Amino acid sequence: MKSSDKSSGGLRKKSAARKNPGRLTRHLLMLRELARNPRDIGAVCSSSPALANEMARAIHPSLLKSGCLIELGAGTGPVTEALLRRGISRDKLIIVEKSEALAQCLKERFNGATVLCCGAEEISSKIKLSSPVAAIVSSLPFRSLPADVSAAIMSEVGRILAPGGLFVQFTYALLGEMPFITADFRKLRSRFILRNVPPAKVEVFRRRKTSVGV
Ligand SMILES: C[S@@+](CC[C@H](N)C(=O)[O-])C[C@H]1O[C@@H](n2cnc3c(N)ncnc32)[C@H](O)[C@@H]1O
Repeated sequence: MKSSDKSSGGLRKKSAARKNPGRLTRHLLMLRELARNPRDIGAVCSSSPALANEMARAIHPSLLKSGCLIELGAGTGPVTEALLRRGISRDKLIIVEKSEALAQCLKERFNGATVLCCGAEEISSKIKLSSPVAAIVSSLPFRSLPADVSAAIMSEVGRILAPGGLFVQFTYALLGEMPFITADFRKLRSRFILRNVPPAKVEVFRRRKTSVGV
């Protein structure tokens, strides 16, 4: 191989690495964001494949025939990856991540999906949704976020999720009920995932077709 070929190969490799940050880069990025803003990150490391797969299992791709899916707090994208493995197509996926550095990483990893860098509480002011939101999958750390932010996010979820739509959330609090969930949601199931650091619980809710107005 000529030296010029070598160097262009090297360049190609470097730009590919920039396009799709590797696992170590993603791990370091998560740690840096955790040090910068522990309350927003609310986790010591990214979700394991076991946890991410359980989140994605709740969403059958046929659910999105005429609607879209919003993922909240995607971090470096383990749950996004699992949703794509599940067969969700990228053009049905809107990813919301507040950290600029993490949103940039998601844009590089998931070309074709819409990535919004904003708070989950402000989605409807940032984007005009062209199809009903059939499901919302959230990794947001509701227990560590300020209570007013968590409440504002759940109001936004109630505003944008279609009646009958699914809301999937994980928590490290293995006992007790999810705070901030309103009576407009009915719990469908709850499952413990031990193969995660720390162990977690995935809960699946359905938004009632008619509001109970509490
Ligand atoms: C527990 S981490 C989950 C990351 C990833 N989904 C995973 O499972 O490893 C929570 C993520 O939510 C993001 N986040 C926190 N507050 C947010 C908000 N108000 N709106 C959108 N994203 C937020 C954080 O930046 C962080 O990436």
